[in-house]
Amino acid sequence: MTINNELLEKLQKQFAFELESGYIYLDYAGYAADRDMNGISHFFIEQAKEEYEHAMKFFDYLNEIGHRVEFPVINGSKAEFETFTELFEAALAHEKEVTRRIHELMDIAVANKDYPTMDFLNWFITEQREEEDSFNGLVAKFKGINEKFQGLYLLDKELSYRE
Ligand code: FEO
Repeated sequence: MTINNELLEKLQKQFAFELESGYIYLDYAGYAADRDMNGISHFFIEQAKEEYEHAMKFFDYLNEIGHRVEFPVINGSKAEFETFTELFEAALAHEKEVTRRIHELMDIAVANKDYPTMDFLNWFITEQREEEDSFNGLVAKFKGINEKFQGLYLLDKELSYRE
């Protein structure tokens, strides 16, 4: 399939950015585990697995349209936070950046009347709406408990149930 060069380049970059997202969330899982918040850590490990699945969708699509997938170096991550609210605010900000990139990809696909890529990207448009909604809700909950131990304990337990 012929594809616009800029779009191809950005699809390649998004493949790597999804892997980088997983890397970042795994770092967040490590941050939480280091503070004995094993439910929050579990939540971010599951989030990292999801990012790997997202990357695989780009991997499969690039292969399907006949392009060898590129593997750039992925940046390391070691985030520090003052509070768990800040941790979840950082995750929300990251998801907003993913959304911005997905929308940019869609804009280029639309401008090029690339219907197969638009169809492929539609799944991510919905996914990003759900991701932002989920992290918005969690930021509100963490703000609500104001880092009090009892609230943290309950939220940690709640997040340990994520599948
Ligand atoms: Fe794949 Fe959470 O963005």
